[in-house]
Amino acid sequence: MKLSQWWVQVAYLEYRLPVVVHSSPGLVLPRMDFRDKQGQIRFASKLIAGVLDFKTMIDNETLPVEFLGGKPLCMNQYYEVLSSCRIPGVSRDSVVNHARSSQPPKHITVVHNFQFFQLDVYHSDGTALTPDQLCVQLEKICRASPDPGAEPVGILTTQHRDVWGKSYLNLIRDPTNKASVSSIQRSIFTLCLDGSTSGAAGDQSRSAAAVQMLHGGGSRGYSANRWFDKTLQFIVGEDGTCGANYEHAPAEGPPIVALIDHVVEFTRKPETSSSPAASLPVPHKLPFNVSPEVKRDIEAAKVSMDSLAQDLDMRVSVFGHFGKNVPKSHRMSPDAFIQVGLQLAFYRKYRRCCATYESASLRMFRLGRTDTIRSASNASASFVKAFDDPSKQNLEKVDLMEKAVKAHRSYTNMAVSGQAIDRHLLGLKLQAAEEKLPVPEIFRDPAYAKALHYRLSTSQVPSKTDCVMCFGPVVTDGYGVCYNPMDDHINFAVSAFNSCGETDAGGLAAAVEDALLDMKVLLDRTPRSKL
Ligand code: COA
Repeated sequence: MKLSQWWVQVAYLEYRLPVVVHSSPGLVLPRMDFRDKQGQIRFASKLIAGVLDFKTMIDNETLPVEFLGGKPLCMNQYYEVLSSCRIPGVSRDSVVNHARSSQPPKHITVVHNFQFFQLDVYHSDGTALTPDQLCVQLEKICRASPDPGAEPVGILTTQHRDVWGKSYLNLIRDPTNKASVSSIQRSIFTLCLDGSTSGAAGDQSRSAAAVQMLHGGGSRGYSANRWFDKTLQFIVGEDGTCGANYEHAPAEGPPIVALIDHVVEFTRKPETSSSPAASLPVPHKLPFNVSPEVKRDIEAAKVSMDSLAQDLDMRVSVFGHFGKNVPKSHRMSPDAFIQVGLQLAFYRKYRRCCATYESASLRMFRLGRTDTIRSASNASASFVKAFDDPSKQNLEKVDLMEKAVKAHRSYTNMAVSGQAIDRHLLGLKLQAAEEKLPVPEIFRDPAYAKALHYRLSTSQVPSKTDCVMCFGPVVTDGYGVCYNPMDDHINFAVSAFNSCGETDAGGLAAAVEDALLDMKVLLDRTPRSKL
């Protein structure tokens, strides 16, 4: 419990880089089949209804318990994702959760053309608005905000946290602004109604959608059509682009994806017709008074957001040659196979291995968050060095591959059962600090800093829906790699920073594709004993 609290403080609330790109993941859903405003509103209404349907299970505590390796998982994170919000501070942020307050919120926030609205989604008798009724309400919101005329206050949430912490105080000094911000913070979630983006297709369109989900495309795009402190934001574009962005402090990806899987399934159900109620209250537009000081903060936020957007290099690709099926048929863990493939790709590109982070769930423990699977091991190094060595026989390479995959799976088993090293070391470091001891020598050793410089920061986020999560690199010269292994294909999202001359998201994505294919070819060409 204490470790989880420490982790949330150190990894999120005391982390001062913008949450945008540096901390909050995006989620790219398949492009939906509408291409206009009417279709967007219709879909968004069903999406809201789908979230409220899932919320009923949270509220009634009827969500089925999840399992990992036959062991039940802590379900607490599900109770943290709705009706909660991060609050900026000058040196440390906090998170408020209104779900368990005496008057839990009954509204969501809708953002359209950079203007914020409070939309009540329950009737006074406690029943949820139907998709038809929500449709009527969303139409009213769109009619009330036809142009992006307003000052884009949402852009403030993209700032460095210390900067936003200060401008937040400026903003809420005005009581009207304070009430508007409070409405956003208290709302169940945010729905961002974007316009259209580029008409690209295939991986290009998926990569553009990932950018839209991760940071919104900059101040001239949709970055201000968000409130990035909000734990859960759904994003629906007029062109069928669809996905989400979530603030990481309260939860990991899997509960968010489970909620989104439910919502996507809900939106696919045939519509049951219900006539809209005659008089629903007009959704309340949240007013903001923009003082010269706030205006100056908005302009500064636009500049820093645009430079971050320029810097992010994002590639979403679908590896279509195989999925979990192939490693499984070779009696290998698919996740370990992919991680070993990533090691091979990186080694081929840089002729060296690097400290690699893969998140492992600690939800087998109450309130557990994550630990680190260190994917770069002696076994993976031996394999990647041998793979392209013409002096090595295929049988030896396969043997090294199997050892690397087994070593990864074995470390994964240790990590998910609380036996990995990273959170343990973090706990010792923070305990020493709490007891006001000098920083122990091990944490001052350059080897410790090197081991924490993750040029590959990776995560598997599986889902039923054919989607992919994406996030930014955690070091300036590194990559963020998120993947969703489906049965017969794998969705990858690879990110890097353009400002680093050595990295290139598209290049690494291509190297991963080659590595996985070459590993399969090697297995296919090398007959082995079935024992
Ligand atoms: N032979 C055949 N099949 C195998 C196998 C083997 N040797 N090893 C595993 N498999 C099967 C599994 O049974 C499983 O089957 P399923 O598809 O029917 O469920 C499947 O392959 C996947 O297993 P594997 O690839 O080993 O991964 P995993 O599901 O155990 O996941 C982690 C590994 C590390 C991703 C997971 O433990 C975890 O911690 N996930 C959470 C990560 C997280 O929080 N990320 C978000 C951060 S924001």
